[in-house]
Amino acid sequence: MIDNTYNNNNNNNNNLHKNARADHVSFWANQAKNNLSWFTPWSKTLDWQLPFARWFVDGEINASYNALDVHTNDKTAIIWEGEDGTSQTISYSELLVSVKKFANVLLSLDVKKGDRVTLYLPMIPELVVAMLACARIGATHNVIFSGFSAPSVRDRIVDCQSKIVITADVGFRRKKIIELKSIIDKAVDRLDFVKHVVVLYRTDANVTTTSAKDVSWHDLIKDASDVCDAIPVESNHPLFILYTSGTTGKPKGVLHGTGGYLTHVTSTFKWAFGILDSDVFFCTADIGWVTGHSYVVYAPLIHGATIVMYEGAPDYPDISQTWKMIEKYGITILYTAPTLLRMLMGAGNDVPESFNLSSLRLLGSVGEPINPEVWRWYHDIIGKSRCPVIDTWWQTETGGIMISALPGIQTIPLKPGSGTFPIPGVNMDVVDKDGTPVEANTKGYLIIRDPWPGMLLTLWENDEKYNKSYWSRYRNCYYSGDYAKKDSDGYLWLLGRADDVINVAGHRIGTAEIESCLVEHSDVAESAVCSVPDDLRGEEIRAFVVPRSEFSDEFSLLRDDLLQKVRDDISSIAVPSKIYFVSKLPKTRSGKIMRRLIKSIVSKSPIGDLSTLDDRNAVTEMQNAVDLDHK
Ligand code: WT7
Repeated sequence: MIDNTYNNNNNNNNNLHKNARADHVSFWANQAKNNLSWFTPWSKTLDWQLPFARWFVDGEINASYNALDVHTNDKTAIIWEGEDGTSQTISYSELLVSVKKFANVLLSLDVKKGDRVTLYLPMIPELVVAMLACARIGATHNVIFSGFSAPSVRDRIVDCQSKIVITADVGFRRKKIIELKSIIDKAVDRLDFVKHVVVLYRTDANVTTTSAKDVSWHDLIKDASDVCDAIPVESNHPLFILYTSGTTGKPKGVLHGTGGYLTHVTSTFKWAFGILDSDVFFCTADIGWVTGHSYVVYAPLIHGATIVMYEGAPDYPDISQTWKMIEKYGITILYTAPTLLRMLMGAGNDVPESFNLSSLRLLGSVGEPINPEVWRWYHDIIGKSRCPVIDTWWQTETGGIMISALPGIQTIPLKPGSGTFPIPGVNMDVVDKDGTPVEANTKGYLIIRDPWPGMLLTLWENDEKYNKSYWSRYRNCYYSGDYAKKDSDGYLWLLGRADDVINVAGHRIGTAEIESCLVEHSDVAESAVCSVPDDLRGEEIRAFVVPRSEFSDEFSLLRDDLLQKVRDDISSIAVPSKIYFVSKLPKTRSGKIMRRLIKSIVSKSPIGDLSTLDDRNAVTEMQNAVDLDHK
């Protein structure tokens, strides 16, 4: 255990946990009142009709108002740095003016309350402007990570019927120019319901209008008025959709509301980070993922904090980039993912030790289990044993942090690799397959018993799938899809996904999505995708492919073809690190692919009971394919 006595707030607030346990509904009502400005008070704190929770019913609020209008001052809101080292500083009042202008632009393009607006932009301040402008007029933003390829972007735009798409001509990554606009051209081709594509031109070379739908961000904003009041929306009005991978072939449109979501993210931000006016907060997540939504944009801005955004890759121009920025901007809180920490640790201690990191006071981790040795390195070498390290567990669906040490409100001993405890007001358990709580130190499934304010409203236009994915496995409980255990002190240890979702470098990818992409290839009959542990990226993707019987070409050509297909259709993050060709997959007699068995074969762990297996040869063949590869 590490004695966390370096809490600079020194306000051990155990009452919070006590109050929350006594009555979690009024507890959250207090948080909503204290952390946010409401136009109209709610009539009912929680309307819980399993599986739908509606928080702060009839209360009226606006996310952009809470993020901006409440702090019209010259404090720096955003410090942005580009890959070439140029930086830009934007104050709260400047950000408000830009947001008002862009909100007027959206209104002039006939965007109405409740319309979906797709944002496909790199990590630039304009992405924050566009999100807050949507929120200001009650439009629902759908941010798509700019690493997704055209077919993935198209699927999401079609699913949410977004009538406007906002993009940039290009993005920059490791000096490479990413042609975002041409990806969007492919994604919206012949989609009549898409009325406009707003393009932010960042380079002169790329000013090309390819479609009558294209309009220029700069042209529109030039003449836009900077008068635009935030419109009040009902607390459960959808603030955003964010697509995430599940166990089926199609990504799920996780839908979040406004008042509950903002209550959750602002409370957790305060408790976990104990944010001070002087803090410079750097969350390294891309805004295209939920961490970016909650802890780059909404929570920090509502608290009036100064945030740092970096457009480039964290190891570009070189591996010292993160440390260089901490020194340059006096960053006090770093919130990042284990995958990046593992990479930085691999570069040796000389790199961070040649920078002055004394501004740091708190370190956070998110997205994957953090190995104890990485945790210790983060704590000892980066934080010089002065800064608490918090490991925060949550999901796109939970909206905000659910498990974490909370140095902003209490001092507890930390254990390297444990997320510690659920936040106040959240009731979790670790249970077996029948729903019975497991004993200490036993692996089980992590579930959540009562609704919490950041809980998703539903899946976009798919209540049935929402119910099936999260609320049908255990009666009255939310199923997280994660394995966990509690130790004898009650500390929680997160043990990875229990379902067919892979977490590669903190990015969530469904095996079914990759499989359906592979089997679309005309030479492929079947495929099974699984993961193996990887030292750097957490997990690595492996695919077994059964070619069609008539296939007679070279396997190596088909392999190249398939890798390219996944890159083109989904994203480079979904590309398998290995493809094995086999003549059949191991199945049960009823024809179900035995996934757990396949995973044991690739990771060379004991394969266990084979009594339901239909054809033993399938296993031998797979084992041979894997062995051959190891030689
Ligand atoms: C999955 C959710 C949390 C926002 C970023 C990812 C894994 C997340 C931790 C952690 C162990 C973690 C879980 C979860 N995960 N945080 N601290 N320790 N695992 O959001 O893409 O929705 O992925 O990420 O497996 O289910 P996401």
